[in-house]
Amino acid sequence: MKRYTLIGPFTQLLPMTGLAVNGPIPDADLPLVEDAGVLLENGIIHSLGRYTEMLSLANDLKAEKMELEGNHSCFPGFVDAHTHICFAGSRARDYALRNAGKSYLEIAKAGGGIWDTVTQTRKASREDLAAGIIKRAKRHLKNGVTTLEVKSGYGLSVDEELKMLRAIGDANKETPSDLIATCLAAHMVPRDYEGTPSAYLEEMAQTLFPVLKAEGLTNRVDAFIEEGAFSQADIAPYFEQAKAMGFDITVHADQFSTGGSEVALAHGAVSADHLEASTNKEIHLLAQSEVIATALPGASLGLGCNFTPARKILDAGGALAIASDHNPGSAPMGDLLTQATVLGAFEKLTNAEVLAGITFRAAAALKLSDRGKLAKGFLADFSVFHTKDYREVLYHQGAFKPCSVWKAGKLIFDKHKG
Ligand code: NIG
Ligand code: FE
Repeated sequence: MKRYTLIGPFTQLLPMTGLAVNGPIPDADLPLVEDAGVLLENGIIHSLGRYTEMLSLANDLKAEKMELEGNHSCFPGFVDAHTHICFAGSRARDYALRNAGKSYLEIAKAGGGIWDTVTQTRKASREDLAAGIIKRAKRHLKNGVTTLEVKSGYGLSVDEELKMLRAIGDANKETPSDLIATCLAAHMVPRDYEGTPSAYLEEMAQTLFPVLKAEGLTNRVDAFIEEGAFSQADIAPYFEQAKAMGFDITVHADQFSTGGSEVALAHGAVSADHLEASTNKEIHLLAQSEVIATALPGASLGLGCNFTPARKILDAGGALAIASDHNPGSAPMGDLLTQATVLGAFEKLTNAEVLAGITFRAAAALKLSDRGKLAKGFLADFSVFHTKDYREVLYHQGAFKPCSVWKAGKLIFDKHKG
């Protein structure tokens, strides 16, 4: 049955339409609908425009009306295209050690780092992990994030990776936001694995990939290309196998040293994420490719290191998504809007570029063409802020929170109701 709902009026609505996936976006190009209404048909946008026009259409269609009072600015629901929110334990000790002068790799080698989280995550049950994901996804939701990618990668054995990916699937059923799972079995070679990195990857490809397909757990495969993780040569057969089975590829690339973005290009990855260490060479190669460059300012803030060269990537014609990388090690903050606006301030990104990075460009990094914009046929996912000027939202660098969040046309967070 068709159910119509009219929502509005919004003082300002940012549809994020008509903008290219690649390259710079001047703020003057940002489309803005003033005094806007959105008419929904069962959770999908049926039409959008001036509230008065939408009102007469709504009356014709006998739509239910959700009338807003006061000033509101409406954005597409934010998309966080890179997180690791499936984990157990804390790495507060790592953070303290790092700030006392130890490097990320030194801490990892001394028993902290990713392996510490693997140990904690292996001890947790599938139910515990799902509960942790739900709790974190809810916090993201209150910050306006309606779609979240979630990686495995703290299991690092067939059974433990499956536990994580099944927990992500369980959590997806329990949270209003959409969780997009990614297999990161290639996060590092587990300390308890007796064999070469290639042998570990081969075992994962042979044993884990078919179960991922059979259970429909994910269609995305990620790898961490770095010293202490996997080399370009290690990963090639793994990614080839993944591609042959129809998985999309994404890469943790150029975080501390270069090499990962080359892997992303060689294997036709959807995105190359991190890129803090990318030089002009990598920036230009990525910009000329179809690969989306995903900046993770939360990891720069968590590790106290430089930001991804986002300005250069855009100026070279690249596609820039911005994600939180929310994880217990490098990016414990997990506040996408704060991080995106801080990246914008340091990298001199326009408001339009920051917003594109957490809406339609982030959706493109997940190959999702039904969200990240507000237009006919798109999902009715909105983040709504109590202001008449949308610029106030970025100006407050994440301290200004949404007053309501809508997912597929349903009001799922209302500040007044908590
Ligand atoms: O994206 N770089 C590799 N992986 C994560 C960190 C994971 C961790 O430290 O637990 C990242 O930063
Ligand atoms: Fe990451």
